Amino acid sequence: MAGKGFTVKKEWDNPTEYAMPAEVRVPAQMRLGPVVVAPATVLAPMAGVTDTVFRRFIRHASLFTASENSPAGAKAPIDSVGELYGLKPVPFTETGIDASVTNEKSGCGLLMTEFTSADGLARMRETKRARYLTFYDDEHPIGAQLFGANPETLAEAARIVEETGFDLVDLNLGCPAKRVVGSNGGSGLLRDLPRIGEIFRAVRKAVTIPFTVKFRLGWNDADIVCLELARMAEAEGLNGLALHARTREQGYSGQAQWHWIAQVKQAVKIPVMGNGDIRTPEDAAAMVAETGCDAVMIGRAAPANPWIFRQIAQYTATGSYERATNLDRYRMIRAYFEMLLAEAEATKDLPRDARMGDPVGKMKQFATWFTHGVPGGAKLRAAIYQARTGPSVLGEVERFFTAQADGIVEEPADGAMDFREAALVCD
Ligand SMILES: Cc1cc2nc3c(=O)[nH]c(=O)nc-3n(C[C@H](O)[C@H](O)[C@H](O)COP(=O)(O)O)c2cc1C
Repeated sequence: MAGKGFTVKKEWDNPTEYAMPAEVRVPAQMRLGPVVVAPATVLAPMAGVTDTVFRRFIRHASLFTASENSPAGAKAPIDSVGELYGLKPVPFTETGIDASVTNEKSGCGLLMTEFTSADGLARMRETKRARYLTFYDDEHPIGAQLFGANPETLAEAARIVEETGFDLVDLNLGCPAKRVVGSNGGSGLLRDLPRIGEIFRAVRKAVTIPFTVKFRLGWNDADIVCLELARMAEAEGLNGLALHARTREQGYSGQAQWHWIAQVKQAVKIPVMGNGDIRTPEDAAAMVAETGCDAVMIGRAAPANPWIFRQIAQYTATGSYERATNLDRYRMIRAYFEMLLAEAEATKDLPRDARMGDPVGKMKQFATWFTHGVPGGAKLRAAIYQARTGPSVLGEVERFFTAQADGIVEEPADGAMDFREAALVCD
Protein backbone atom coordinates (compact mmCIF):
# COMPACT_ATOMS: atom_id res chain seq x y z
CA MET A 1 0.00 0.00 0.00
CA ALA A 2 2.92 2.35 0.60
CA GLY A 3 2.83 5.22 -1.85
CA LYS A 4 -0.72 4.56 -3.07
CA GLY A 5 -2.24 7.08 -0.73
CA PHE A 6 -5.79 7.90 0.14
CA THR A 7 -7.72 10.87 1.21
CA VAL A 8 -9.83 11.55 4.25
CA LYS A 9 -12.28 14.41 4.40
CA LYS A 10 -11.65 16.48 7.43
CA GLU A 11 -15.01 17.33 8.87
CA TRP A 12 -14.50 19.37 11.97
CA ASP A 13 -15.03 22.65 10.19
CA ASN A 14 -18.29 21.47 8.67
CA PRO A 15 -19.62 18.71 10.88
CA THR A 16 -22.91 17.16 9.92
CA GLU A 17 -25.33 18.51 12.44
CA TYR A 18 -27.48 15.79 13.79
CA ALA A 19 -27.97 14.54 17.29
CA MET A 20 -27.96 10.86 18.18
CA PRO A 21 -30.42 9.51 20.73
CA ALA A 22 -28.79 9.33 24.17
CA GLU A 23 -28.95 5.55 24.36
CA VAL A 24 -26.63 5.03 21.40
CA ARG A 25 -23.70 7.14 22.45
CA VAL A 26 -20.21 5.66 22.72
CA PRO A 27 -20.00 3.45 25.84
CA ALA A 28 -18.28 4.82 28.92
CA GLN A 29 -16.09 1.75 29.20
CA MET A 30 -15.13 -1.63 27.85
CA ARG A 31 -13.16 -4.39 29.56
CA LEU A 32 -10.50 -6.42 27.80
CA GLY A 33 -9.87 -9.07 30.45
CA PRO A 34 -8.77 -7.07 33.49
CA VAL A 35 -7.91 -3.98 31.44
CA VAL A 36 -10.51 -1.23 31.70
CA VAL A 37 -10.78 0.89 28.59
CA ALA A 38 -12.60 4.06 29.65
CA PRO A 39 -14.03 5.68 27.64
CA ALA A 40 -14.50 2.95 25.05
CA THR A 41 -12.41 4.66 22.39
CA VAL A 42 -9.18 3.31 20.94
CA LEU A 43 -6.39 4.90 18.91
CA ALA A 44 -5.87 2.56 15.95
CA PRO A 45 -2.38 1.23 15.30
CA MET A 46 -0.80 3.18 12.43
CA ALA A 47 2.66 2.40 11.10
CA GLY A 48 4.78 5.52 10.81
CA VAL A 49 2.30 7.47 12.92
CA THR A 50 1.49 5.98 16.33
CA ASP A 51 4.96 6.05 17.86
CA THR A 52 5.41 7.03 21.50
CA VAL A 53 5.41 10.76 20.77
CA PHE A 54 2.19 10.67 18.78
CA ARG A 55 0.49 8.43 21.32
CA ARG A 56 1.35 10.74 24.19
CA PHE A 57 0.31 13.69 22.08
CA ILE A 58 -3.12 12.10 21.68
CA ARG A 59 -3.28 11.24 25.37
CA HIS A 60 -2.59 14.88 26.25
CA ALA A 61 -4.50 16.47 23.40
CA SER A 62 -7.14 17.92 25.68
CA LEU A 63 -4.45 20.11 27.24
CA PHE A 64 -3.77 21.94 24.02
CA THR A 65 -7.04 23.78 23.89
CA ALA A 66 -7.17 27.47 24.69
CA SER A 67 -9.16 28.58 27.66
CA GLU A 68 -12.41 30.27 26.75
CA ASN A 69 -11.42 33.67 28.04
CA SER A 70 -8.11 33.95 26.23
CA PRO A 71 -8.09 37.36 24.58
CA ALA A 72 -7.77 36.10 21.03
CA GLY A 73 -6.63 38.78 18.67
CA ALA A 74 -5.30 41.12 21.37
CA LYS A 75 -2.58 43.37 19.96
CA ALA A 76 0.55 43.63 22.08
CA PRO A 77 4.28 43.41 21.67
CA ILE A 78 4.81 39.68 21.34
CA ASP A 79 7.53 37.12 21.67
CA SER A 80 5.29 34.31 20.55
CA VAL A 81 1.82 33.73 19.26
CA GLY A 82 0.84 32.29 22.61
CA GLU A 83 1.64 35.58 24.29
CA LEU A 84 -0.29 37.41 21.64
CA TYR A 85 -3.27 35.41 22.72
CA GLY A 86 -2.46 35.98 26.36
CA LEU A 87 -1.18 32.47 27.00
CA LYS A 88 1.78 31.16 28.87
CA PRO A 89 4.06 28.98 26.74
CA VAL A 90 2.79 25.42 26.43
CA PRO A 91 4.51 23.62 29.32
CA PHE A 92 5.18 20.59 27.21
CA THR A 93 8.75 19.54 27.43
CA GLU A 94 10.35 16.27 28.23
CA THR A 95 9.87 16.86 31.92
CA GLY A 96 6.84 19.14 31.82
CA ILE A 97 4.25 16.49 31.02
CA ASP A 98 1.52 16.14 33.53
CA ALA A 99 1.59 12.40 33.95
CA SER A 100 -1.62 12.52 35.95
CA VAL A 101 -3.72 13.04 32.81
CA THR A 102 -5.79 9.93 32.65
CA ASN A 103 -7.29 8.28 29.65
CA GLU A 104 -10.68 9.38 30.91
CA LYS A 105 -9.58 12.99 30.91
CA SER A 106 -8.02 12.71 27.48
CA GLY A 107 -11.01 10.96 25.99
CA CYS A 108 -8.90 8.14 24.54
CA GLY A 109 -9.33 4.89 26.43
CA LEU A 110 -6.59 2.79 24.84
CA LEU A 111 -3.43 3.48 22.87
CA MET A 112 -1.88 1.02 20.43
CA THR A 113 1.64 0.85 19.05
CA GLU A 114 2.25 0.66 15.33
CA PHE A 115 2.65 -2.92 14.15
CA THR A 116 5.96 -4.62 14.88
CA SER A 117 7.39 -7.66 13.17
CA ALA A 118 7.45 -10.67 15.47
CA ASP A 119 10.40 -12.12 13.50
CA GLY A 120 12.27 -8.86 13.83
CA LEU A 121 11.52 -8.55 17.51
CA ALA A 122 12.65 -12.05 18.31
CA ARG A 123 15.90 -11.47 16.39
CA MET A 124 16.79 -7.87 17.05
CA ARG A 125 19.24 -6.53 19.58
CA GLU A 126 17.97 -5.33 22.93
CA THR A 127 18.68 -1.67 22.05
CA LYS A 128 16.73 -1.74 18.80
CA ARG A 129 13.90 -3.61 20.47
CA ALA A 130 13.70 -0.74 22.93
CA ARG A 131 12.96 1.67 20.11
CA TYR A 132 10.04 -0.35 18.83
CA LEU A 133 8.62 -1.06 22.24
CA THR A 134 9.31 2.23 24.03
CA PHE A 135 6.44 3.70 25.94
CA TYR A 136 6.10 6.03 28.92
CA ASP A 137 4.07 5.71 32.11
CA ASP A 138 1.44 8.14 30.91
CA GLU A 139 0.56 5.82 28.00
CA HIS A 140 -1.24 3.16 30.05
CA PRO A 141 -3.38 1.38 29.11
CA ILE A 142 -1.41 0.53 25.99
CA GLY A 143 -1.34 -2.45 23.65
CA ALA A 144 1.51 -3.61 21.41
CA GLN A 145 0.60 -4.94 17.99
CA LEU A 146 2.56 -7.75 16.34
CA PHE A 147 2.50 -9.24 12.89
CA GLY A 148 3.99 -12.47 11.63
CA ALA A 149 3.03 -15.91 10.41
CA ASN A 150 4.96 -18.31 12.61
CA PRO A 151 3.13 -19.36 15.80
CA GLU A 152 6.30 -19.97 17.85
CA THR A 153 7.90 -16.69 16.83
CA LEU A 154 4.71 -14.79 17.55
CA ALA A 155 4.47 -16.49 20.94
CA GLU A 156 8.07 -15.50 21.71
CA ALA A 157 7.43 -11.92 20.60
CA ALA A 158 4.25 -11.79 22.71
CA ARG A 159 6.32 -12.85 25.74
CA ILE A 160 8.71 -9.98 25.07
CA VAL A 161 5.73 -7.61 24.86
CA GLU A 162 4.43 -8.88 28.19
CA GLU A 163 7.85 -8.60 29.87
CA THR A 164 8.19 -5.05 28.58
CA GLY A 165 5.09 -4.08 30.57
CA PHE A 166 2.40 -3.63 27.93
CA ASP A 167 -1.17 -4.04 29.10
CA LEU A 168 -2.14 -6.21 26.15
CA VAL A 169 -0.83 -7.78 22.98
CA ASP A 170 -2.65 -7.55 19.64
CA LEU A 171 -2.24 -9.63 16.51
CA ASN A 172 -2.43 -7.93 13.12
CA LEU A 173 -4.46 -9.83 10.53
CA GLY A 174 -5.30 -6.88 8.37
CA CYS A 175 -2.16 -5.43 6.84
CA PRO A 176 -2.56 -5.40 3.04
CA ALA A 177 1.07 -4.35 2.32
CA LYS A 178 2.72 -6.65 -0.22
CA ARG A 179 5.87 -7.26 1.78
CA VAL A 180 3.78 -8.35 4.80
CA VAL A 181 1.26 -10.41 2.85
CA GLY A 182 4.14 -11.89 0.82
CA SER A 183 5.48 -13.55 3.95
CA ASN A 184 1.94 -14.64 4.90
CA GLY A 185 1.59 -12.02 7.61
CA GLY A 186 -1.17 -9.45 8.07
CA SER A 187 -4.18 -9.98 5.81
CA GLY A 188 -2.30 -12.78 4.02
CA LEU A 189 -3.32 -15.04 6.88
CA LEU A 190 -7.01 -14.42 6.21
CA ARG A 191 -6.74 -17.18 3.60
CA ASP A 192 -5.32 -19.67 6.10
CA LEU A 193 -7.69 -20.01 9.06
CA PRO A 194 -6.06 -23.21 10.42
CA ARG A 195 -2.77 -21.32 10.74
CA ILE A 196 -4.57 -18.50 12.52
CA GLY A 197 -5.91 -21.10 14.96
CA GLU A 198 -2.36 -22.30 15.68
CA ILE A 199 -1.20 -18.74 16.25
CA PHE A 200 -4.10 -17.99 18.58
CA ARG A 201 -3.28 -21.08 20.67
CA ALA A 202 0.48 -20.44 20.78
CA VAL A 203 0.19 -16.81 21.78
CA ARG A 204 -2.61 -17.47 24.25
CA LYS A 205 -0.45 -20.06 26.00
CA ALA A 206 2.58 -17.76 26.04
CA VAL A 207 1.14 -14.76 27.86
CA THR A 208 -1.25 -13.91 30.67
CA ILE A 209 -1.95 -10.32 29.58
CA PRO A 210 -5.07 -9.80 27.45
CA PHE A 211 -4.69 -10.91 23.86
CA THR A 212 -6.70 -9.27 21.05
CA VAL A 213 -6.78 -9.52 17.27
CA LYS A 214 -7.41 -6.88 14.59
CA PHE A 215 -8.56 -8.05 11.19
CA ARG A 216 -10.35 -7.19 7.98
CA LEU A 217 -13.52 -8.81 6.67
CA GLY A 218 -11.65 -11.30 4.51
CA TRP A 219 -9.49 -11.38 1.41
CA ASN A 220 -12.27 -10.17 -0.90
CA ASP A 221 -16.06 -10.03 -1.11
CA ALA A 222 -16.19 -13.65 -2.27
CA ASP A 223 -14.18 -14.79 0.72
CA ILE A 224 -15.53 -13.10 3.86
CA VAL A 225 -14.20 -14.86 6.97
CA CYS A 226 -14.82 -12.34 9.73
CA LEU A 227 -17.62 -14.30 11.44
CA GLU A 228 -15.67 -17.54 11.52
CA LEU A 229 -12.55 -15.74 12.64
CA ALA A 230 -14.36 -13.93 15.43
CA ARG A 231 -15.80 -17.21 16.73
CA MET A 232 -12.35 -18.80 16.61
CA ALA A 233 -10.89 -15.90 18.57
CA GLU A 234 -13.53 -16.33 21.24
CA ALA A 235 -13.10 -20.11 21.38
CA GLU A 236 -9.31 -19.78 21.79
CA GLY A 237 -9.63 -17.43 24.74
CA LEU A 238 -8.83 -14.06 23.16
CA ASN A 239 -10.11 -11.11 25.16
CA GLY A 240 -11.44 -8.94 22.37
CA LEU A 241 -11.27 -8.14 18.69
CA ALA A 242 -11.15 -5.16 16.37
CA LEU A 243 -12.70 -5.29 12.92
CA HIS A 244 -11.73 -2.90 10.12
CA ALA A 245 -14.83 -3.43 8.02
CA ARG A 246 -13.13 -3.66 4.63
CA THR A 247 -11.69 -6.56 2.66
CA ARG A 248 -8.02 -6.82 1.80
CA GLU A 249 -8.83 -6.17 -1.85
CA GLN A 250 -10.74 -3.05 -0.92
CA GLY A 251 -7.60 -1.46 0.49
CA TYR A 252 -8.91 1.90 1.66
CA SER A 253 -11.37 2.41 -1.16
CA GLY A 254 -15.14 2.48 -0.94
CA GLN A 255 -16.85 2.59 2.40
CA ALA A 256 -16.28 0.47 5.45
CA GLN A 257 -19.12 -2.09 5.56
CA TRP A 258 -20.32 -1.54 9.10
CA HIS A 259 -23.06 -4.15 8.82
CA TRP A 260 -20.34 -6.80 9.21
CA ILE A 261 -19.36 -5.26 12.54
CA ALA A 262 -22.99 -5.71 13.61
CA GLN A 263 -22.95 -9.35 12.54
CA VAL A 264 -19.68 -10.06 14.33
CA LYS A 265 -21.06 -8.41 17.45
CA GLN A 266 -24.04 -10.77 17.27
CA ALA A 267 -21.77 -13.79 16.74
CA VAL A 268 -19.53 -13.46 19.84
CA LYS A 269 -19.63 -12.40 23.47
CA ILE A 270 -16.09 -10.99 23.68
CA PRO A 271 -15.82 -7.21 23.20
CA VAL A 272 -15.90 -5.95 19.63
CA MET A 273 -14.09 -2.76 18.60
CA GLY A 274 -15.57 -1.26 15.43
CA ASN A 275 -13.17 0.37 12.98
CA GLY A 276 -13.37 2.15 9.65
CA ASP A 277 -14.35 5.63 8.47
CA ILE A 278 -15.06 7.36 11.78
CA ARG A 279 -14.27 11.01 11.14
CA THR A 280 -16.48 12.82 13.61
CA PRO A 281 -18.14 12.23 16.99
CA GLU A 282 -21.39 11.82 15.07
CA ASP A 283 -19.80 9.01 13.05
CA ALA A 284 -18.65 7.31 16.26
CA ALA A 285 -22.16 7.44 17.74
CA ALA A 286 -23.63 6.25 14.44
CA MET A 287 -21.31 3.24 14.39
CA VAL A 288 -22.37 2.27 17.91
CA ALA A 289 -26.02 2.75 16.95
CA GLU A 290 -25.76 0.69 13.79
CA THR A 291 -23.54 -2.12 15.05
CA GLY A 292 -23.84 -2.28 18.84
CA CYS A 293 -20.02 -2.43 19.02
CA ASP A 294 -18.42 -2.19 22.46
CA ALA A 295 -15.84 0.43 21.48
CA VAL A 296 -14.84 2.55 18.52
CA MET A 297 -11.33 2.52 17.07
CA ILE A 298 -10.10 5.60 15.24
CA GLY A 299 -7.20 5.82 12.82
CA ARG A 300 -6.85 8.42 10.10
CA ALA A 301 -9.02 11.05 11.74
CA ALA A 302 -6.62 11.29 14.71
CA PRO A 303 -3.66 13.05 13.06
CA ALA A 304 -6.02 15.39 11.21
CA ASN A 305 -8.11 16.17 14.25
CA PRO A 306 -6.25 15.15 17.42
CA TRP A 307 -9.17 16.47 19.49
CA ILE A 308 -11.50 13.81 18.18
CA PHE A 309 -11.33 11.64 21.31
CA ARG A 310 -12.10 14.56 23.56
CA GLN A 311 -14.88 15.63 21.22
CA ILE A 312 -16.41 12.15 21.37
CA ALA A 313 -16.27 12.26 25.18
CA GLN A 314 -17.94 15.68 25.17
CA TYR A 315 -20.53 14.61 22.66
CA THR A 316 -21.26 11.50 24.68
CA ALA A 317 -21.70 13.51 27.85
CA THR A 318 -23.57 16.52 26.52
CA GLY A 319 -24.79 15.89 22.97
CA SER A 320 -22.53 18.57 21.55
CA TYR A 321 -18.81 19.29 21.37
CA GLU A 322 -16.34 22.14 20.92
CA ARG A 323 -14.64 22.79 17.60
CA ALA A 324 -10.96 23.65 17.45
CA THR A 325 -10.08 27.30 17.04
CA ASN A 326 -7.00 28.56 15.25
CA LEU A 327 -5.40 29.16 18.62
CA ASP A 328 -6.08 25.53 19.55
CA ARG A 329 -4.46 24.47 16.30
CA TYR A 330 -1.46 26.64 17.00
CA ARG A 331 -1.01 25.19 20.46
CA MET A 332 -1.49 21.69 19.14
CA ILE A 333 1.04 21.85 16.34
CA ARG A 334 3.58 23.62 18.52
CA ALA A 335 3.15 21.14 21.35
CA TYR A 336 3.63 18.18 19.03
CA PHE A 337 6.74 19.66 17.45
CA GLU A 338 8.19 20.46 20.86
CA MET A 339 7.50 16.91 21.96
CA LEU A 340 9.32 15.54 18.91
CA LEU A 341 12.35 17.72 19.63
CA ALA A 342 12.31 16.73 23.31
CA GLU A 343 12.19 13.03 22.43
CA ALA A 344 15.04 13.40 19.92
CA GLU A 345 17.08 15.18 22.59
CA ALA A 346 16.23 12.59 25.24
CA THR A 347 17.31 9.69 23.03
CA LYS A 348 20.31 11.29 21.30
CA ASP A 349 22.94 9.54 23.41
CA LEU A 350 21.42 6.09 23.02
CA PRO A 351 22.87 3.61 20.51
CA ARG A 352 21.91 4.60 16.95
CA ASP A 353 19.22 1.96 16.50
CA ALA A 354 17.49 2.99 19.74
CA ARG A 355 17.24 6.71 18.92
CA MET A 356 14.14 8.40 17.70
CA GLY A 357 14.11 9.02 13.94
CA ASP A 358 14.64 12.45 12.39
CA PRO A 359 12.25 14.86 14.15
CA VAL A 360 12.21 17.28 11.22
CA GLY A 361 10.99 14.52 8.88
CA LYS A 362 8.21 13.74 11.33
CA MET A 363 7.30 17.42 11.57
CA LYS A 364 6.93 17.58 7.80
CA GLN A 365 4.82 14.43 7.75
CA PHE A 366 2.53 15.75 10.46
CA ALA A 367 2.30 19.18 8.85
CA THR A 368 0.96 17.52 5.71
CA TRP A 369 -1.99 16.09 7.62
CA PHE A 370 -2.57 18.71 10.18
CA THR A 371 -2.48 21.89 8.11
CA HIS A 372 -5.20 20.77 5.74
CA GLY A 373 -8.28 22.59 6.85
CA VAL A 374 -6.23 25.35 8.49
CA PRO A 375 -6.95 28.56 6.57
CA GLY A 376 -3.91 29.25 4.41
CA GLY A 377 -2.45 25.89 5.46
CA ALA A 378 -0.75 25.38 2.10
CA LYS A 379 1.54 28.31 2.90
CA LEU A 380 2.52 26.84 6.24
CA ARG A 381 3.17 23.44 4.66
CA ALA A 382 5.39 25.00 2.03
CA ALA A 383 7.34 26.93 4.66
CA ILE A 384 7.79 23.84 6.84
CA TYR A 385 9.00 21.79 3.87
CA GLN A 386 11.70 24.40 3.22
CA ALA A 387 12.91 24.44 6.82
CA ARG A 388 15.95 22.37 7.72
CA THR A 389 16.03 22.30 11.51
CA GLY A 390 13.53 21.80 14.30
CA PRO A 391 13.81 25.34 15.65
CA SER A 392 13.35 26.81 12.16
CA VAL A 393 10.17 24.70 11.73
CA LEU A 394 8.91 26.09 15.03
CA GLY A 395 9.80 29.59 13.82
CA GLU A 396 7.65 29.07 10.71
CA VAL A 397 4.77 27.92 12.89
CA GLU A 398 5.09 31.07 15.04
CA ARG A 399 5.27 33.33 11.99
CA PHE A 400 2.29 31.73 10.32
CA PHE A 401 -0.02 31.89 13.30
CA THR A 402 1.11 35.40 14.21
CA ALA A 403 0.05 36.50 10.73
CA GLN A 404 -3.24 34.66 11.21
CA ALA A 405 -3.89 36.32 14.54
CA ASP A 406 -3.23 39.64 12.84
CA GLY A 407 -5.85 38.74 10.25
CA ILE A 408 -3.32 38.60 7.43
CA VAL A 409 -4.12 35.10 6.23
CA GLU A 410 -7.61 34.79 4.85
CA GLU A 411 -7.50 31.87 2.45
CA PRO A 412 -10.34 29.36 2.52
CA ALA A 413 -9.64 26.06 4.19
CA ASP A 414 -8.66 23.18 1.96
CA GLY A 415 -10.83 20.33 3.10
CA ALA A 416 -9.01 17.06 2.64
CA MET A 417 -5.91 15.49 4.03
CA ASP A 418 -3.69 13.14 2.18
CA PHE A 419 -1.80 10.26 3.71
CA ARG A 420 0.37 9.65 0.66
CA GLU A 421 3.41 10.73 2.61
CA ALA A 422 2.93 8.20 5.37
CA ALA A 423 6.03 6.12 5.84
CA LEU A 424 4.06 2.94 5.45
CA VAL A 425 0.38 2.46 4.95
CA CYS A 426 -0.79 -0.72 6.46
CA ASP A 427 -3.38 -2.56 8.41
C1 LIG B 1 -0.68 5.34 7.81
C2 LIG B 1 -1.43 4.15 8.30
C3 LIG B 1 -0.75 3.11 8.90
C4 LIG B 1 -1.46 1.99 9.40
N1 LIG B 1 -0.78 1.02 10.06
C5 LIG B 1 -1.45 0.01 10.66
C6 LIG B 1 -0.79 -0.94 11.49
O1 LIG B 1 0.41 -0.87 11.72
N2 LIG B 1 -1.55 -1.92 12.05
C7 LIG B 1 -2.90 -2.03 11.84
O2 LIG B 1 -3.53 -2.92 12.37
N3 LIG B 1 -3.54 -1.12 11.07
C8 LIG B 1 -2.86 -0.10 10.50
N4 LIG B 1 -3.54 0.84 9.77
C9 LIG B 1 -5.00 0.75 9.63
C10 LIG B 1 -5.72 1.48 10.74
O3 LIG B 1 -5.41 0.93 11.99
C11 LIG B 1 -7.25 1.41 10.51
O4 LIG B 1 -7.66 0.07 10.55
C12 LIG B 1 -7.68 2.00 9.19
O5 LIG B 1 -7.01 3.20 8.92
C13 LIG B 1 -9.20 2.22 9.16
O6 LIG B 1 -9.60 3.05 10.21
P1 LIG B 1 -9.89 4.64 9.99
O7 LIG B 1 -10.94 4.74 8.91
O8 LIG B 1 -10.34 5.14 11.30
O9 LIG B 1 -8.60 5.25 9.51
C14 LIG B 1 -2.86 1.92 9.24
C15 LIG B 1 -3.53 2.96 8.61
C16 LIG B 1 -2.84 4.07 8.14
C17 LIG B 1 -3.60 5.19 7.52
